Amino acid sequence: MSEMDNSVRRGDNVLLYLTRKKKWLVRADADKRVHTHLGYVDLSSIIGKEYGSSIMTSVGERLWILKPTIVDLILKAERRTQIVYPKDLGMIVSMTGISSGSIVVEAGTGSGALTTFLANLVKPDGHVFSYEIRPEFIEIAKRNIERAGLRDYVTIKQADAKKGFDEKNVDVVIIDVGDPWTLVGVAWEALKGGGMIAGISPTMNQVEKLVVELRNTGFVWIESLELLLRGLEARPNMTRPSMGMIGHTAYLTFARKVLKDR
Ligand SMILES: C[S@@+](CC[C@H](N)C(=O)[O-])C[C@H]1O[C@@H](n2cnc3c(N)ncnc32)[C@H](O)[C@@H]1O
Repeated sequence: MSEMDNSVRRGDNVLLYLTRKKKWLVRADADKRVHTHLGYVDLSSIIGKEYGSSIMTSVGERLWILKPTIVDLILKAERRTQIVYPKDLGMIVSMTGISSGSIVVEAGTGSGALTTFLANLVKPDGHVFSYEIRPEFIEIAKRNIERAGLRDYVTIKQADAKKGFDEKNVDVVIIDVGDPWTLVGVAWEALKGGGMIAGISPTMNQVEKLVVELRNTGFVWIESLELLLRGLEARPNMTRPSMGMIGHTAYLTFARKVLKDR
């Protein structure tokens, strides 16, 4: 099969799309059947079909065969913790400059949503080292990362990040724990000079404590922000903002490590 081939291969993650709210993430296994409230689809019948084409369910409903993005995979993944949402994922990457080849340290892994997103960016030469204290979350995160096909780019360590990171000279440290200020010192130790730290905090008191600690530890260019995202209901002559809006996800804080005078 050529690199340019755009057809579903056995084992692919595939999105069967009816509407924005009704879509099914399936794996194209030959012997499986997916049941929906609109009939079933034998997954053997999607193997070999071109992405962008469609398939009929057993009751004649048309489902579009789409290739899931990394965010589709994350939003459909198993989760037992709060996760980082797409609007914040995008900003974290723009502010930190994470790209292919980056070495990133993360605390904590949680359900592995951010880990999955980062691994997809740093591959094939970069790596994400992720610290998580609770083994039950590590199991979930590993399953999610494996499902996204990104296992080779992630190392999860079961440890209290407060005890320090094994990695040194890393490009970026990302902190998504309830007491981020307690990890600023170990993040400074792990980062290379000029390296970026990013903190993800649901509440303002966390942000305040974090920025005080950043200032005291040897970070500059400290910036905190919140992103508000509003969808549009776009249709001819009637376009208006959506009535519903996600009120709050997290505050993001960014800073750069500077070297102390010797
Ligand atoms: C909000 S969740 C992270 C969610 C993750 N960013 C995602 O997108 O799926 C916070 C996680 O940090 C872990 N955690 C809290 N303190 C920690 C520490 N000191 N060291 C390692 N992990 C810690 C918690 O067990 C929890 O799983």
